[in-house]
Amino acid sequence: MRAQRIGVIGGGLMGHGIAYLLAAAGHSVGVFEPVAEIRGSLPQRLQSILDLLGDDPALLSRIDAHDRLAPAVQGVTFVFEAAPEKLPLKQGIFAELESAVAPDAILASNSSAIPSTEIGRNLKHRERVVGTHFWNPPHLVPLVEVIQNEKTSPEVVRKTMELLRDAGKTAVHVRRDVPGFVGNRLQHAMKREAIALVAAGVCDAETIDTVVKAGFGARTAVLGPMEQSDLVGLNLTLDIAEVLYQELDRTAGPHPFLREKVAAGKLGMKTGEGLRQWTPATADAVRQRLSRFLAEQAKARKKESA
Ligand SMILES: NC(=O)c1ccc[n+]([C@@H]2O[C@H](COP(=O)([O-])OP(=O)(O)OC[C@H]3O[C@@H](n4cnc5c(N)ncnc54)[C@H](O)[C@@H]3O)[C@@H](O)[C@H]2O)c1
Repeated sequence: MRAQRIGVIGGGLMGHGIAYLLAAAGHSVGVFEPVAEIRGSLPQRLQSILDLLGDDPALLSRIDAHDRLAPAVQGVTFVFEAAPEKLPLKQGIFAELESAVAPDAILASNSSAIPSTEIGRNLKHRERVVGTHFWNPPHLVPLVEVIQNEKTSPEVVRKTMELLRDAGKTAVHVRRDVPGFVGNRLQHAMKREAIALVAAGVCDAETIDTVVKAGFGARTAVLGPMEQSDLVGLNLTLDIAEVLYQELDRTAGPHPFLREKVAAGKLGMKTGEGLRQWTPATADAVRQRLSRFLAEQAKARKKESA
């Protein structure tokens, strides 16, 4: 794919990783980050990714940071918005983008939960607004959900998937703008049951993590649930569903166990206790383990595709 000029709005956690992966694919990237301190730390954060992945340092020269939106998006064909998760803020950004970029430039939002239908509601050219849900860290996790909202044109979906696939991402087409898209619905369906099992005293939180990581999680990266159902046979899947579904948690809304934890200030690693107990050292070990694992996988994928 020919090199393009691409804008990234917000140079925070997601924005800097998105900027990196687009620059690594050969594009020139303008980042708009209004907070001076965060903008100032961008080169060092990009350098850390480069060190982790061992890429060509020249790619960093393709990323420039700006304190205003217009110069960051001048002449762009795509914009990826990764600003804070607030609807009025995102709507304001998209309104400004509409007057700053060509009418056919594609406007993609990385929102986790706000439908891009809402973000683009007041725009003139709504057909070029699309959801692109990256997973954290976006430069290491392959998946991007490309969410077609009620106004997105099929051509915009096609071009967005093409750009992302060309940049080495696994882009999937989500045909309706449903809350949580696909990945978070699946992830939270599992968390719902996990929390209910712990709350009922069936096992502790550590056991949940072990069951997932050493059990079905050990094969999940190479065997999805649909493949697995077909592998064992849908008759068996139905037999299990007949017995099990009536037993699964149906608490309306978030489980009281989760609400109580949050009300008590037990928020997880950052407070030393959440579903499990943490020290700064054990929390850091988890972060290191995750980062090393994802980086190794990313390098292996790159080697395979070279
Ligand atoms: N963190 C995740 O795991 C994750 C995963 C998928 C999607 N997302 C989504 O990505 C988006 C960004 O999340 P994040 O985790 O990178 O947040 P973040 O707070 O790390 O980054 C947001 C950045 O936007 C900047 N910003 C503030 N106001 C702005 C404005 N008016 N215009 C442009 N930039 C502005 C902030 O200074 C900050 O640097 C959110 O919509 C979030 O829901 C996050």
